Amino acid sequence: MPEDDGNLVSRRAALKALAAVSMCPLVSACEFVELRDVGELADETPFSLDDPGLESLSTVGETACFEHGARDLVLVRKSEDEIVAFNGVCPHQGLDMGDCGNNIRPAIWDADQDAIICDWHGSTFNTDGELIAPPTTEPGFDEPIEVFPVEFDPDTGEGTVFSP
Ligand code: FES
Repeated sequence: MPEDDGNLVSRRAALKALAAVSMCPLVSACEFVELRDVGELADETPFSLDDPGLESLSTVGETACFEHGARDLVLVRKSEDEIVAFNGVCPHQGLDMGDCGNNIRPAIWDADQDAIICDWHGSTFNTDGELIAPPTTEPGFDEPIEVFPVEFDPDTGEGTVFSP
């Protein structure tokens, strides 16, 4: 279950430092790298806000990591009635925006932009998956992120994530 904030910050800082040192020198100016294998998709995965790890989605604006088959997704409680599901791997450098097995906190939801922000370099994606703010180091980067259909019943707190 989630680590305390101190551990999360330390782990995140360490991972970012490692990425900066290990990835950027291998590709000039941190150019795009191949996305790692992100695992098989399930056709559909039911969920409940009572499920372990999804309790945060009881609050509008909160995020949670969600296992959809072998794929980790980031779920966002966008509004009382709507949950949005993004692929958990950022298309920029293939880094995790949410890693359920390692308790890495998902990317940040920005309600003002109605968009999710990858915490690694700031790529920002709207709910259609379109990139609306790229990393400043790579102005040509415009890869979208996968968005997964979600059915959600706010009365029961239950729903299903489908594959596109
Ligand atoms: S991995 Fe670079 S912005 Fe997400």
